[in-house]
Amino acid sequence: MSQSIHTSVLYQECLDALNIKSDGVYIDATFGRGGHSRGILDSLHAPGRLIAFDRDPSAIEYANQHFSERNFKIIHSEFAAMADVPEVQDEQGKVDGILMDLGVSSPQLDEAERGFSFMRDGPLDMRMDTSKGMTAEQWLATADEQDISQVIKEYGEEKFGKRIAHAIVQTRAHTPITHTLQLANIISDAMPVKDKHKHPATRTFQAIRIYLNSELDQVRDGLKAAVTMLKPGGRLAVISFHSLEDRLVKRFMKEQSKGKNVPANLPITQAEIDADKVLRLIGRAIKASEEELTHNTRSRSAVLRIAEKL
Ligand SMILES: C[S@@+](CC[C@H](N)C(=O)[O-])C[C@H]1O[C@@H](n2cnc3c(N)ncnc32)[C@H](O)[C@@H]1O
Repeated sequence: MSQSIHTSVLYQECLDALNIKSDGVYIDATFGRGGHSRGILDSLHAPGRLIAFDRDPSAIEYANQHFSERNFKIIHSEFAAMADVPEVQDEQGKVDGILMDLGVSSPQLDEAERGFSFMRDGPLDMRMDTSKGMTAEQWLATADEQDISQVIKEYGEEKFGKRIAHAIVQTRAHTPITHTLQLANIISDAMPVKDKHKHPATRTFQAIRIYLNSELDQVRDGLKAAVTMLKPGGRLAVISFHSLEDRLVKRFMKEQSKGKNVPANLPITQAEIDADKVLRLIGRAIKASEEELTHNTRSRSAVLRIAEKL
C-alpha cells in the first residue's frame, strides 16, 4: 500500500464542536486514517471511550495497526447502520458526541488502484467498501444510457450528462472501459465547453462515486441513526465536501431543530411546539481558515455544521 498522508480537515474545529468530556463516549463515524480519532482519543481517559466506523477495509487495517488503545474500537460497517451494529446497541442514547467527516479520504483518492482519481491511471473501481458491491467498470459496462445520464446530471450537477453518457455507450460498443484515464478522456472529448478552473471529469467522477456508494442515502440514514445514538446534550458534528451533501445536512439539522409546524391561531402551547424539537443548532456553518487553506487544498470545499441533541 502506498503511503498517503491524510491531513484531517477542520481538525481543531471538530474537536471543539464535540465539546469533549474526558470520560464520555464518542463515535467517529468516518475513521479514514484516524486523524480526528487520534485527537478525540487523546482527550479521553477511561472510562472515556471512542468507537469508530469505516466501510473501507483498508481503513480498518490501518486502525488495527496503529490504534491499540483499550478504550478504542473500530467497526467495519456503513455508518448508516451504526445504531444496529450489535457491538454498539447498548450505547443507544448514551453517546456524548458523533463526528461524520463525509466523502472519500486522501488515501482513497491518492491510490490509483482505488479508481477514484481522474489524475492517476488505475482500474475503474470507486467502491469505498472493496469487499462488496459493483465496481464503476461493471456499472458502466451494463447500465442504460438513460440511467448513466441521469446519475451524471443528478449527482454531478453536470449539464453535459447526456452527451457524456452517449459517448460512454458508444465507446463501450467497441472497447471495454476499464481505466480511470480512459474514462476521463472519453468525458473530456464529449464536452463541448470546458470549465477553466475544473478538470472536465470532476463532476462525472463525483457522480459515479456518489451513486455506486449510495452516499446520499448513507448521509440521510446516518444522520437519523446518529441522533438516536446521542444522549441529551450530545453533539453532532458533520463535515460535507459538496453542495448535495451539505444541503442534506443543513436541511436535516434545521428540521430537527424547528419543532411542530402549526398555524399561528391554533390553541397550542409553546411547550407543545417545542416537544417536537430534537436538536439545537450550534453556531453557523464553519469553513476552513485562510491558514488551513494554504496547507490543505482538500479543506477548500469543507463545511462543518454542528448541532446538540435536546
Ligand atoms: C474524509 S475521510 C475521513 C478522514 C478522517 N476524519 C481522518 O481524520 O483521517 C472519510 C472516510 O469515511 C469513510 N466513509 C465514507 N462514507 C462512509 C459510510 N457511509 N460509512 C462508513 N464509512 C464511510 C470512507 O471510507 C473514508 O475512509
